[in-house]
Order: sequence, then structure tokens, then C-alpha cells
Amino acid sequence: MIEVRRVSVTYPGGVRALVEVDAAFSPGEFVVIVGLSGAGKSTLLRTLNGLVRPSAGDVLLFGESVVQASPARLRALRRDVGMIFQTFHLVRRATVLHNVLAGRVGHTPPWRTLFGLWSRRDVEVAWSCLERVGLADKAYVRADRLSGGQQQRVGIARALAQEPKVLLADEPVASLDPRTARDIMQDLKRIQQDEGILTIVNLHSIELAQEFADRIIGLRDGRIVFDGPARDVTVETLAEIYGEERLGGAPGWLRPRPSAATDSHSAGSSAGEISGRTAETERGPVRR
Ligand SMILES: Nc1ncnc2c1ncn2[C@@H]1O[C@H](COP(=O)(O)OP(=O)(O)O)[C@@H](O)[C@H]1O
Ligand SMILES: [Mg+2]
Repeated sequence: MIEVRRVSVTYPGGVRALVEVDAAFSPGEFVVIVGLSGAGKSTLLRTLNGLVRPSAGDVLLFGESVVQASPARLRALRRDVGMIFQTFHLVRRATVLHNVLAGRVGHTPPWRTLFGLWSRRDVEVAWSCLERVGLADKAYVRADRLSGGQQQRVGIARALAQEPKVLLADEPVASLDPRTARDIMQDLKRIQQDEGILTIVNLHSIELAQEFADRIIGLRDGRIVFDGPARDVTVETLAEIYGEERLGGAPGWLRPRPSAATDSHSAGSSAGEISGRTAETERGPVRR
């Protein structure tokens, strides 16, 4: 459905954000891309729908080259790609319903959206998307009156209103408290399972990634260092993604789940190594 072929991205100024990345994404997958800040996660997600142009290589979106597509063709391709953002990107003073209707712009002639002349079908789709995220009762509330979690649900409903084939979410829960973050991940997972939409999510939390992903892609310095089932992530994988040197003082969320390790002895000692908090509270002082 999406194919990334030896894609490199070098930004003006010379930063190599992606280096010869290869990956393929199939319908119905729930993929989480993890990595440190600056690893290239956002760049990778943005190359998938042509928002960032590869310096080398190509991306095939629904079988078509994003590099060769005309601007008009690219707009048409993007209609099938829903985006969800860390900071929601809502029109704060507009109602929830209007924010969700904005997801319909690709399906409606511009002059109609300009005057707010949404078709009956547009309005029906918007309402059903609000129902899918449990916010139908907030349709006429101003977006900025909602909690962060509710605002992100509006962001999800807007993306769904596009009736997309793919959902791309760039750090969708990074601005939310941990509990709300899990709820939003659960919403995304449920929607992906109910509707089989290919869903690709950037996260920095490996814990959430392991809980929700079918497949995890680990990025480090613009290169893929892991691509496989979430259950195959080991302590060694984490060291590759996050770097051994950083794991020494890493926060608790870097601790792999017990199931991720095969050898209990090495898992025990390594887990102590990478989780500063565990080492301090359960194993005595940690080396600095
Ligand atoms: N528009 C840009 N211009 C120049 N450098 C950029 C731009 N966007 C990102 N970068 C750089 O590219 C690298 C990867 O960034 P990014 O894809 O945002 O990583 P992540 O999302 O994993 O934090 C970083 O070094 C970042 O500073
Ligand atoms: Mg990013």
C-alpha cells in the first residue's frame, strides 16, 4: 500500500534526517515508529504523503510515485491519507462539528466549503465520525472548550471524515497526560481494528509502542535499526534504538516488558542497567 524505497532526506543546511530507508506498509497494519527526538520519525511520516520530498529514493503511495506526481495528483493522493498531529491543529474558535467537517474539504468543491455549504453527505459523515470517537454530544461546543484528550479525538474524527485509506499520527499523545495518552492509543487501535485502516503512529514512548503496536520500526540517526513484531523487541533492540550510553540514566518507560526478554538472567541484569528508576528503587544505587 505504501512502499519506501531507499529514501534519503537531507535538509538545507546538511542535516541527514533519513539515510537510505526501506520499508513497506500493508493494509490493516498498526505500525509504531519509535526513536529519540531527532531520529527522523516526523520526516519519515511526512515523506509518506509527500509533505517532505526525498533527496534520493522514492515513495510509492497506493502504487504511485510521490516524487513524480504533479502537485494536483499529489493533492488527490493525499485525500486518502488522514493526518493526526501532536498539537491537534484545530480551529480553536470553531465548533467541534466544523472542525470535523474540515476533513471533508478534499471531497467538496472549494467554493462550497468557502461558504460553508456542506452537502448532506458531508454532514452525515462528520456526525458519524464524531460518534465513532464518542463526541457527538459536543458537536456544537467550541473546540477550545474541550480537554486535551477530547481535542485529540476531534483531530481523529477530522482525519476519519476524509474516509482515508491510511492514518498517519505524529506523536498524537505527546501533549497528553499518561492516562489520556493510553485512552487515545486505545481509540486509534479500536478504529484500526474495526475498519482495517493502515495506521502508522510516531511515538517516543516504547512502553506505549509495545502495548499497542503490531509492528515496531526503530529509527536512530535517520536509519532503521529495527523493523519487526512488537514481541521481538529485546533489551538489545532498545539499546540499538536509544543508544547504550543513554540507557544508563533512562527513565522508567525505557524498561522493556518482561515478555520482551528471553533469557531471564540477562534480562534481569540488563533491565537494571537500562532503567535508572528500577535500579535505584529496587536494586540499590545506580552507577552514574
Ligand atoms: N525543516 C527542517 N529543516 C532542517 N532540519 C530539519 C527540519 N526538520 C527536521 N530537521 C532535522 O532533521 C532531523 C530529524 O528530525 P525529525 O524528523 O523531526 O525527527 P523526530 O521526529 O524523530 O524528532 C533532526 O536533526 C532535525 O533537527
Ligand atoms: Mg517528530
